[in-house]
Amino acid sequence: MAVGLPFNASRLALGLLIVVILVVGYFSNVSAPLFHHEAVPLEFVASSYDWANHTRKHPISEKDMAKLPAGDAIEIPPIQHLFFSPPDNEEATKSLEEKRSDIKRAFVQTWDSYEKHAWGRDELKPLSMKGHDSLGGWAASMIDALDTLWLMDMKPEFNRAASYVGRLDWDNSTSESCNLFETNIRYLGGLLSAYELSSEGVLLSKAIEIGDLLYAAFDNYEHMPPHTITFHDLKLGRGHPEQKQSSAGLGSMSLEFTKLTQLTGNPKYYDGIDRITRAFNRTQNSTLIPGMWPLQIDVLHDFGVKDDSFSLGANGDSLYEYLVKEFVLLRGREPVYEEMYTKAVDAIIKNLLFRPMLPKKDNVLMVGKIDVVGGGIVNLQPHLEHLSCFAGGMIAMGGKVFERDDHVVIGDKLARGCAYAYASFPNGIMPETSSLSACPSLDPCEFRSSSIRATTDGFKTKDKRYVLRPEAIESIFILYRITGNEEYRDIAWDMWKAIKKATKTPHGTFAEVKDVTQSELTHTDSMESFWMAETLKYFYLIFSDESVLHLDEWVFNTEGHPLKRS
Ligand SMILES: *[C@@H]1O[C@H](CO)[C@@H](O)[C@H](O)[C@H]1NC(C)=O
Ligand SMILES: *[C@@H]1O[C@H](CO)[C@@H](O)[C@H](O)[C@H]1NC(C)=O
Ligand SMILES: *[C@@H]1O[C@H](CO)[C@@H](O)[C@H](O)[C@H]1NC(C)=O
Ligand SMILES: *[C@@H]1O[C@H](CO)[C@@H](O)[C@H](O)[C@H]1NC(C)=O
Repeated sequence: MAVGLPFNASRLALGLLIVVILVVGYFSNVSAPLFHHEAVPLEFVASSYDWANHTRKHPISEKDMAKLPAGDAIEIPPIQHLFFSPPDNEEATKSLEEKRSDIKRAFVQTWDSYEKHAWGRDELKPLSMKGHDSLGGWAASMIDALDTLWLMDMKPEFNRAASYVGRLDWDNSTSESCNLFETNIRYLGGLLSAYELSSEGVLLSKAIEIGDLLYAAFDNYEHMPPHTITFHDLKLGRGHPEQKQSSAGLGSMSLEFTKLTQLTGNPKYYDGIDRITRAFNRTQNSTLIPGMWPLQIDVLHDFGVKDDSFSLGANGDSLYEYLVKEFVLLRGREPVYEEMYTKAVDAIIKNLLFRPMLPKKDNVLMVGKIDVVGGGIVNLQPHLEHLSCFAGGMIAMGGKVFERDDHVVIGDKLARGCAYAYASFPNGIMPETSSLSACPSLDPCEFRSSSIRATTDGFKTKDKRYVLRPEAIESIFILYRITGNEEYRDIAWDMWKAIKKATKTPHGTFAEVKDVTQSELTHTDSMESFWMAETLKYFYLIFSDESVLHLDEWVFNTEGHPLKRS
């Protein structure tokens, strides 16, 4: 355009341009301190060992690698309820705001104490106010909390943490080994989620580094990672899978590794988890409970499935959760996840659910655990594990994705089963494990208190602790978003008040409770990273606007880290 202008006009234009540049320059300088975290790129310092360039003993050529399924995405039915913005109701808005602030206050107190007393450590000990390393010394609580910091709009704190993380050296660990499952869901999941929310490049770079370490663990004859990764052995090419490995450990890498391939274009991560999926798929029909997998898998002998214990608690749980979530993350492009999930959930519903025998015959369900005894007899134990309380959310979500309304109903009753358990204990919190009497079927039955040496309303408590776990509120949150039923928010608020009261320490921190059945509560000097990553996040989210982390756009990994559907 300038070419056609008379000489004077173009000089004028040039002059104006210079003025504009100077003015913009002046104001961007002035405003720089305010937006410090956006203006200054964070420094990335590479780890001292480069796992990406680690020499493999059992290389897989790229042509033999499974590729991300390419075809067209399928239309996944909406998971989330269609919320209409309510007519302006000042009182309701204010009450939601107050609830969110109450939860955020607890998060801020926790974070501030961590920053002050345990910066860079895996955990803060909430009574002695000391740092503690339990997950390799790579700042687990910090990385696990990054996305919650972002969600709660704590940008300066987020930035300080991201700046620390950008210089983290994965080769400088406080331990000689790391746990495959925890490293994947907390560190890799936390970094990927924080990256997708913030677009902060160093977080992706650090995610790739730890992803490469985890991927190196697939370098063996079986191309399967061991549950415990010993760094020294792995560097020498001596990392072998084991005869007994946690099923959930192996089955809960798909979301993170798929996301890594989606973000980097490098097929190796997806290839790794695809091998695990195929192995699980191959054995799904030949276990003692066809459709489910036992808690332990023999990875050395072709994914042998001789173990006879099945549950949705420790070592079982997220294996199932990741089938439906991986289907969603891949937008339905890989049908095997639908087939596997559908078979699994049918077997779970048929074998694992029980209706607890309760004084008021409340219409709730729970998941128990199974031991298959001699002669293939399926022995359902009506145990309630806090860890298995995620199941209501999972089954309801699967019900939406695969259009099974009956599963949404079951998910609702399971979520309410855990909420019932919370409300039944004197401090309003359910313990780690308890057991009940089961009705003969899922229909209501008469309560016989003599049938169980019950302590509380039909519950016999086993492990009496509450360790700040999220699974119950997780399901309540998912069910709220799926059904739009406000009752869930009331349930959540009661749970929150109980948890805050019971776990708060004189230092303003929050700690594990030793025995939830006592009226005088005592604490343990421990606070795991999922308190900030999950428990506080789900409580905050249920009182947030429903468009925040919409369930039709985001998939939560099993540590509460949202990943974007792509
Ligand atoms: C591997 O090492 C080579 C040579 O040192 C380097 O050029 C390359 O960037 C490294 N690859 C990765 C993924 O870091
Ligand atoms: C390893 O990390 C610790 C703190 O976690 C730090 O004090 C030390 O300097 C680091 N060592 C190296 C070689 O970076
Ligand atoms: C999954 O297993 C079924 C039954 O064994 C088989 O037909 C199918 O090809 C398998 N799918 C994949 C992707 O391995
Ligand atoms: C799995 O087993 C069931 C019966 O136990 C059978 O009907 C089905 O065909 C089997 N499926 C595969 C893929 O082997």
